[in-house]
Amino acid sequence: MQRTLLIIKPDAVAKNKIGEILRRVEEKGFRIVDLYKRRLTRKEAETFYAEHRGKPFFEPLVDFMTEGPCIPVVLEGENIIPQLRKLVGKTDPADAAQGTIRRDLAENGRRNAVHASDSPETAEREIAFFFDGKREII
Ligand code: CMP
Repeated sequence: MQRTLLIIKPDAVAKNKIGEILRRVEEKGFRIVDLYKRRLTRKEAETFYAEHRGKPFFEPLVDFMTEGPCIPVVLEGENIIPQLRKLVGKTDPADAAQGTIRRDLAENGRRNAVHASDSPETAEREIAFFFDGKREII
């Protein structure tokens, strides 16, 4: 069993798409381990996306990720990291395959509804970012 982090981003939360996204995830057979709602500070968003610092889309990305609450979700399933990335689709909805979350729900390549960890190492770091030792994962 593998775990990964999904973030339902502020655009999708504002459009009442939390249930729609979780429905698609559960329909694939993935288990929701934990989730909650929170608004990131600028510092938190900059830290979470530190690898993109210096890229032209970094500041607008931080603006977007802090404009409202998001929902970090820990998910579990067999080989879930690549499977969830497939369900999520490519970064830009124009490039994302039919039936993917981003194709159906994203506005554009920045306001793209969700984030999903891209490797086991990233998943571990990203889960720890949102779910620290104070919050027991069940
Ligand atoms: P995500 O999968 O969360 O990882 C980095 C995020 O940066 C990405 O989704 C988008 O929200 C944003 N992003 C990546 N590339 C671009 C781009 N070319 N233009 C605007 N935003 C981008």
